[in-house]
Amino acid sequence: MRKLVNSYLTHSTVILLSAAFIFTIFFNGCFQGTVSDKPPIHLNPNMDSQKKYKPQSLSKFFINGSSMRMPVAGTIARGDLRSNSEFFLGKDAAGNELTSNPLPINEKLLVRGAERYNIYCSPCHNNNGDGKGLVQQKGLLPPPDFLSDKVKNFTDGYLYNVISNGVRTMPSYRHQILVRDRWAIVAHLRKMQGKSSASKGE
Ligand code: HEC
Repeated sequence: MRKLVNSYLTHSTVILLSAAFIFTIFFNGCFQGTVSDKPPIHLNPNMDSQKKYKPQSLSKFFINGSSMRMPVAGTIARGDLRSNSEFFLGKDAAGNELTSNPLPINEKLLVRGAERYNIYCSPCHNNNGDGKGLVQQKGLLPPPDFLSDKVKNFTDGYLYNVISNGVRTMPSYRHQILVRDRWAIVAHLRKMQGKSSASKGE
């Protein structure tokens, strides 16, 4: 008798478990592709979701109430050393502006420079560099013509610094344009001026 009950129990447990399994799979399938504000059912969480701070969120843990931390004094994050002053500052060791582009000038760099120029500079400086872009037509102080002798005589390092730090009424583009792309734009400007920046000491 006991044997019978036992086998009956095991039997029904197996059926129940299988039903639960099929049910879960079925509903899991149903939830896919539908819009929901609840997190999806995640059968094997595998430490995928963990408590964390999102950028600029509040924190009750840190005394100033912010989850964002300053880097520890005297430390530098990997890849942020920026020891190459020519590349990052456009200046040589003595602090003089570079007369030529620190990157090798090739087709790829020029294509990239033209693309970035048309995105970031042309609204004011115009596609051809004459300074009569759309923004200027709306009343902005006219930027100088890139084909003028004044701009032709600027060094590559100076042009790089204008993009990085802005100049007088022109804003800085350091946050929008990566360092490498700023040099690509400088190369493009030189090409526009019919001036090659490939040769050193020009
Ligand atoms: C919002 C409009 C605007 C944008 C975008 C802009 N500029 Fe300018 N730029 C100006 C104005 C205005 C001046 C003139 C500044 C002055 O003399 O007050 C200027 C001046 C310059 C000069 C001459 C600097 C000097 O010392 O006379 C250079 C070179 C230059 N811009 C390069 C660039 C490059 C490269 C870009 C794209 C990364 C760019 N600009 C994007 C408005 C702009």
